Amino acid sequence: MRVVRNVPDLVSARKEMGAQRIGFVPTMGFLHEGHLSLVDLAAKLANRVVVSIFVNPLQFGPGEDLETYPRDERGDLEKLRRRGVDLAFVPSAEEFYPPGAATRVHVEGPLTQRLCGATRPGHFDGVATVVTRLFSLVRPTVAVFGQKDFQQLQIVRRVNEDLGLGVHIVGGPIVREPSGLAMSSRNARLSPEEKTQALALTRALDEGANAIVRGERRAEMVRMAMSRILEESPGISPVYADVLRASDLAVVPQLEGEVLLAVAARVGVTRLIDNRVVTIEQSQS
Ligand code: PAF
Repeated sequence: MRVVRNVPDLVSARKEMGAQRIGFVPTMGFLHEGHLSLVDLAAKLANRVVVSIFVNPLQFGPGEDLETYPRDERGDLEKLRRRGVDLAFVPSAEEFYPPGAATRVHVEGPLTQRLCGATRPGHFDGVATVVTRLFSLVRPTVAVFGQKDFQQLQIVRRVNEDLGLGVHIVGGPIVREPSGLAMSSRNARLSPEEKTQALALTRALDEGANAIVRGERRAEMVRMAMSRILEESPGISPVYADVLRASDLAVVPQLEGEVLLAVAARVGVTRLIDNRVVTIEQSQS
């Protein structure tokens, strides 16, 4: 596996790959099985795999965890090597963004208005900007993003379409710990007790999904059922519990088709998110 740390080296390594099918997995490192499942998916869909490890400062707001975000470059590179990755791009912020960089990619409308868009101002501008620059440098055929960040996935699809970037965007399924907790680099900061408390997120999603299975179609009732679980769970500070149309994250009063159940909460100082997509068949609505 080749490791490159600056943009000129990335561009020349990419040039050497030529017209092959390039699969790309952008990450912020501290890799777990969730990330590695995306790498495996990229390897199935392409014949060369590129992974970036870059903790993008633009997507962290003031007071967020940029400085304390978990990092383990050596461990990450070893995992990628074992997974057969061809090229790892590991730039510093100074190497990644050119001096004087002033461009931001901003997505308007319902896709960015709720969930993490509402609770982390500027976050998705940072994500859209870094992904656009990564796509233009790596020029992948296909890029794989985890469905745990469902809102991010839909925003990346929008940016790709709107800017004509021509990348095939694929969502990889959420990978969970045996307990049901969605894998996240931030789980490393949870104490054993907090890991148990964090299962409130999965319980809230179960509650929302079960309400739908029982026939509840009023979005507000599903939202309230999920919120109640988060509010009643010890050690949890709820951030949001929401149910939206999955395709565009629009608020709909009556649920039908594919809907996204999404939750976020703080467990101690760690902010976690989770989600589930539920399909309501026509005959069930
Ligand atoms: O999901 C992530 O890890 C990041 O938001 C991404 C897509 C690598 C952009 O920094």
